[in-house]
Amino acid sequence: MIEKLSELAALRARVSEWKRQGLRVGFVPTMGNLHAGHYSLVELARQHADRVVSSVFVNPTQFGPNEDYTRYPRTPDADMAGLEAAGCDVLWLPTVESMYPFGVELAAKVHVPGVSGVLEGACRPGHFDGVCTVVSRLFNQVQPDVAAFGKKDYQQLAVIRQMVTDLAFPIQIIGGDIVREDDGLAMSSRNQYLSAQLRPQAAQIRKVLLQMQAGLAAGQPRTRVETEAGQRLDAAGFVTDYAVIRRPDLSEPAEDEPGARVALIAARLGTTRLIDNLEF
Ligand code: PAJ
Repeated sequence: MIEKLSELAALRARVSEWKRQGLRVGFVPTMGNLHAGHYSLVELARQHADRVVSSVFVNPTQFGPNEDYTRYPRTPDADMAGLEAAGCDVLWLPTVESMYPFGVELAAKVHVPGVSGVLEGACRPGHFDGVCTVVSRLFNQVQPDVAAFGKKDYQQLAVIRQMVTDLAFPIQIIGGDIVREDDGLAMSSRNQYLSAQLRPQAAQIRKVLLQMQAGLAAGQPRTRVETEAGQRLDAAGFVTDYAVIRRPDLSEPAEDEPGARVALIAARLGTTRLIDNLEF
């Protein structure tokens, strides 16, 4: 049976008891409205730990003023049932008041320079400050040995890794593969904002990522591949925020430089903003 906790003292007591028994504790932070992508992280955490805690907290500080904080989908009953089926032991449900005891305005903030400033960070100012601010609190609350994050949010994973190294959190970070719908669309809580008319179009993102990989493999210049990717997305009805090829640390590669790459896309379809990426 999964245990639902929303008192910090109760969470600490549970985790301390596990640690006294020598058990390794895994953690999967989420904002709820869970799908197979989230559950795959719970299963991944299980492979690296004896017990797994998942949190559901829609974090106000990582949403911009015109973003979807208030309408973000909240499905607590389905989330709890799904987490139990995925093998989660504790569902941690903090309140906004307990997460930010001095209020959001007076909250101590965690800012990770550099990698937070590009791509998503440039399109969504302050977003990664909100993410780091809440994840550092969650880490201190749960005190896990290992925490799992999805590669769907590739840059978020990079930012969290830098934060954990820089602030010396004694936590191992593991990245989980992207879980997709049958047509290739990366699963996301935001996909349900898409109208039935627009939904089939959304699968184009994955197709363009694969074309970017193929273009680079065929020896085309990176900047040309990026420009053409943007044009393909625009032609498919998207408004493209970025379609780029980067090094795994998200810095810009030099022309003709060999090495691992990641193609990253952020594009809006109607009012829905979608992100996806492909490592190669
Ligand atoms: P959320 O969007 O709920 O995602 C929680 C975790 O699930 C993240 O690590 C995300 O990368 C992962 N995830 C989402 N869709 C996925 C997919 N299709 N395949 C694999 N993993 C997927 O990311 C957040 O919440 C928040 O920023 C959070 C880290 C909880 C801080 O508030």
